[in-house]
Amino acid sequence: MSQTLIAPSLLAADFGNLQRDIEMVNNSDADWFHIDIMDGVFVPNISYGMPVLKAISAHTNKPLDVHLMIVDPDRYIKEFASLGANILTVHYEACTHLHRTIQAIKAEGMKAGVALNPHTSVDLLKDILPDLDLVLVMSVNPGFGGQSFIENTYNKIKSLKEMASELNPELIIEVDGGVTSENAAQLSAAGANALVAGSFVFKSNDQPKTIKNLKEVANS
Ligand code: DX5
Ligand code: ZN
Repeated sequence: MSQTLIAPSLLAADFGNLQRDIEMVNNSDADWFHIDIMDGVFVPNISYGMPVLKAISAHTNKPLDVHLMIVDPDRYIKEFASLGANILTVHYEACTHLHRTIQAIKAEGMKAGVALNPHTSVDLLKDILPDLDLVLVMSVNPGFGGQSFIENTYNKIKSLKEMASELNPELIIEVDGGVTSENAAQLSAAGANALVAGSFVFKSNDQPKTIKNLKEVANS
């Protein structure tokens, strides 16, 4: 079984001490940086945009896993590539021509991901699944950190894993929202192999230790 990766979400970092928090992740057992871009239209919140991503990118030493919660993401694909995004994930619900968007992301040399809101069925990805590098299963409604995990996520991961074993065995199944050491093992067992954690990491007293523990639990 492949290792479950840990992607701390900088949304929960201390923006007044962003470089310090980035260094913490750089020196931790984390695998990726998870970067949440929100436009105040697709989701009812605005996070941060290009200048902040540029500043983040200058200090990170691990892949940037960029989660776009924005409408019409095609407008910015080239720019995210030039800012150092390694994985670019768009929302299924925000893309009218998803196949075109995915090809455009790949053409810029990035891995392509699709995120699903909690109400969106994994079955809708059947025809696009062979083209994807990653599916991001939202385990909260996107827009805010610190929300409670939605239990139906386990069913979605299992269905997706089943579909992927036939159509795209290399697919990365990532889970985002309310991830803690309480649910990490069950998420991995269901088929997740990348876990995003914001509040659980950054609100803890010993952040590197929390990341290490989360990774251990996820791979137990
Ligand atoms: C929510 C974001 C998440 C968020 C997760 O819309 O996509 O990445 O940072 O935060 P926690 O881990 O606190 O639920
Ligand atoms: Zn996210």
